[in-house]
Amino acid sequence: MTASRQPEAEIINFRSVIEKQLFYGRGEVLEQYSRAWDLRTGEAYVFDKFFPTGGRLLDVGCGTGRTSFLLADRFDEIDAFDIVPEMIEVARKRDAELRTKINFFVGDATHLPVASTRYDAVLFAYNGIEGILDKQSQMNVLSEVFRVLRSGGVFIFTTKSCFNANYARRFYIPRLMAQIGIGRHDGGTPLEVEVTQGNQKMRWHTTNPLAMKAQLRRTGFELLYFNSEVRLGRGQTGSSLAANFHRWDHFYACRKP
Ligand SMILES: C[S@@+](CC[C@H](N)C(=O)[O-])C[C@H]1O[C@@H](n2cnc3c(N)ncnc32)[C@H](O)[C@@H]1O
Repeated sequence: MTASRQPEAEIINFRSVIEKQLFYGRGEVLEQYSRAWDLRTGEAYVFDKFFPTGGRLLDVGCGTGRTSFLLADRFDEIDAFDIVPEMIEVARKRDAELRTKINFFVGDATHLPVASTRYDAVLFAYNGIEGILDKQSQMNVLSEVFRVLRSGGVFIFTTKSCFNANYARRFYIPRLMAQIGIGRHDGGTPLEVEVTQGNQKMRWHTTNPLAMKAQLRRTGFELLYFNSEVRLGRGQTGSSLAANFHRWDHFYACRKP
């Protein structure tokens, strides 16, 4: 990255932090996350199969602590953080009620405030990494996770896919048509999509799974598993090219060699 691009990335990041705090930290969205208490089918399968039992977990972008609480019996220690203080407040209240002793704190995944090689497992659940719009910042998250995992430690996260029929209708086909002079295309891209819930909005990045796998390898990770919620929901646990083209959650399980 050149010196002149750094301030631009900082501004994009700052704007995206404020956006997340306004989206997740109040109203309907905060209420919905405060009630969340289940694992998705794919999460249950991938956690059970790839997370170690015992040791330390870092739950990145933990929201109100859904996955931390549901994994509390599996690990000896859990540190969990989110960039939205209101979500951490909800998580801490629940922790006091349940006496789970999870260490919840406010923090930013692009600058992990923890020591190197501290964790046996790291989780960034439910597409949280896609709320980080700036590509360099996403790369920083992967490098930071790599740094804080011990050798042999496992990182699990999910993304959505920019390859799917819905985005073909919304972005790729109109763009192609506009290029050959039929209709107009507003220049939108699935790499930056606006999501709305009630009157709350934020921008979201959808991932190219092939590029993500290449980036994981460049960061030094070994990819243990990749599948989609659609396939896991049907009990299809084996690997398949088709998983790349499902819209909703892609599960990645990676290991630090
Ligand atoms: C879709 S929610 C998922 C919350 C929780 N992991 C769950 O599965 O219920 C994504 C979460 O990632 C958090 N997040 C996004 N960017 C972050 C960052 N840079 N640092 C920490 N948390 C972040 C958001 O604030 C939000 O709580």
